[in-house]
Amino acid sequence: MKKRVLSGIRATGRLHLGNYLGAIKGMLALQDDPTYETIYMVADLHAVTTPYKVEELRVNRREVIIDYLAAGLDPEKSILFQQADVSEHAELAFYFSSVMTIARMQHLPTFKEKVKQYPDAATMALLNYPILMSADILVYKAGLVPVGIDQEPHLEISREIARKMNQEYGMDFPEPQRFKTPGEYVPSLTGEGKMSKSVEGSFITLVDDLATIKAKLSKAPTDSGKGDIAQATGGVKALLSFVELFQGADRRKAYEAAYKNEGIRYGDLKHDLAEAIYKELQPIQEKRKAFESDPSRVDQIIAEGSKRARVIAAQTVAEVKEKMGLA
Ligand code: ADP
Ligand code: TRP
Repeated sequence: MKKRVLSGIRATGRLHLGNYLGAIKGMLALQDDPTYETIYMVADLHAVTTPYKVEELRVNRREVIIDYLAAGLDPEKSILFQQADVSEHAELAFYFSSVMTIARMQHLPTFKEKVKQYPDAATMALLNYPILMSADILVYKAGLVPVGIDQEPHLEISREIARKMNQEYGMDFPEPQRFKTPGEYVPSLTGEGKMSKSVEGSFITLVDDLATIKAKLSKAPTDSGKGDIAQATGGVKALLSFVELFQGADRRKAYEAAYKNEGIRYGDLKHDLAEAIYKELQPIQEKRKAFESDPSRVDQIIAEGSKRARVIAAQTVAEVKEKMGLA
């Protein structure tokens, strides 16, 4: 049997370069490797774990599918679907919640951060977030998960759940591992922390045009451009990571050498970098237009994807129910 891969992105807004380099690039690489069966969803259930607007979610859960298709995920090679359309995910999450303690879930760094961000909305859904994510993965018995490094604590939970379900109920769940990409941690354009949808000014989206990319890069903080590279500030460090990701390691080394000698001219660096980023995004944007103008094709892909996903998910849920004494 082919090794299964599962990944998802929350339906909370437009995808950015962090999502693209940390998750989608890995999703694409595994889709094109015939040894894997790839299953990719939009995590719309996860979008309701923090405050949201109904009409925005309705749009976003579809837009993420269009971003996937535009980026090159192919319904002929991968199962593409929306999480809420396969109710087995939520059902399995409930069974899994019986083997995890409240204390374990409360101590997760990701939970603590979100509680800080939304002090009045620390819901049960938020506490259950990693359990639902584990159900997403294990309902397909997937062993490999292309996601950014920030998701590692969640994958640790999925491994714990797999071990517990195997020991207590004799299931055969794999312990999911992260599939890493060179862009597993894309820094914020502000120079502090990671690029994120929820931090204004931190991101470049997949639909940004050249002028927008240039404008966003121009705001990234820099320094005098000269000195000891080891002391380069956040903004400069971030720019150099982007250079490496979009223009290659040699170009980065050349800038690092310039920093120690004649100095870097940030205007030129940002100009060339913007061109390189746009060169990668342009074909994605062209493809997006084609899907936007053919909504029934998108509907058909989504319907077909959830149908295929449900067949696999239903088998796992039936097995779990039987082993837990519920059938
Ligand atoms: P955000 O943090 O912007 O809300 P999500 O949490 O929805 O993004 O992340 C979706 C996917 O993209 C996950 O696999 C996550 O690891 C990856 N990802 C998000 N931000 C980054 C980043 N800055 N660098 C690398 N990967 C990222
Ligand atoms: N938690 C992931 C994120 O914030 C999204 C996600 C939900 C996911 N379910 C998943 C990722 C299953 C991989 C596998 O990006």
